[in-house]
Amino acid sequence: MGSFEKFMVVMLVAAAAGFISVSADPDLLQDVCVADLSSGVKMNGYACKENFTADDFFFAGLSKPGLTNNTFGSVVTGANVQKIPGLNTLGVSFSRIDYAPGGLNPPHTHPRATEIAFVLEGELEVGFITTTNTLFTKTIKKGEIFVFPKALVHFQKNNGKVPAAVIVAFNSQLPGTQSLGATLFAASPEVPDYVLSQAFHIGSTKQVEKIKSRFAPKK
Ligand SMILES: *[C@@H]1O[C@H](CO)[C@@H](O)[C@H](O)[C@H]1NC(C)=O
Ligand SMILES: *[C@@H]1O[C@H](CO)[C@@H](O)[C@H](O)[C@H]1NC(C)=O
Repeated sequence: MGSFEKFMVVMLVAAAAGFISVSADPDLLQDVCVADLSSGVKMNGYACKENFTADDFFFAGLSKPGLTNNTFGSVVTGANVQKIPGLNTLGVSFSRIDYAPGGLNPPHTHPRATEIAFVLEGELEVGFITTTNTLFTKTIKKGEIFVFPKALVHFQKNNGKVPAAVIVAFNSQLPGTQSLGATLFAASPEVPDYVLSQAFHIGSTKQVEKIKSRFAPKK
């Protein structure tokens, strides 16, 4: 094969790879489409604002640790299209997650995105579980990276004596989060007790009620 043919084969493979793009969000059709978060127009993403400024592409909210004084000892601060309107149609976003000593970001999934985490501070036990129920787990420390594949259940736990923090990136402007405990035990309207007791092989619905009460917002 001559060098031109080789070049064409490479170009065709590249074009095919682009066609079956693994990007999570659909590609954009214009330079920018800054989200008009107040628009009532419902579409896949947000309607575009007529006028925008540099501030629509700016967010300072990840510069400081979030408050971790809650029952899980962790807090997620999103930097997605709802905070940065300029991200609309661009297919990326960040979050910062802070963990108190002992803090847990409980098992959850992001239905629309792969997540790549970079440790800012501390050390974390992290893991994801595949659809064959295999756990892939590792302890990661400052400066290290771990990947959570799109839609798979995953968690992070700070077993250390000092706070930990990560910055995570998503290939979606709004990855969405379903936290398994809250999804099942704090849904509104409620998932029936008999569904949960049968699903979790719990004999009585009393235990389901007990778990639900712990997920209920503190009055
Ligand atoms: C956008 O800017 C133009 C030009 O300054 C102005 O005429 C128009 O009213 C603005 N639109 C909105 C929705 O603010
Ligand atoms: C967490 O701490 C902040 C600031 O100290 C306080 O305003 C807030 O009420 C606390 N939240 C909880 C759930 O204790």
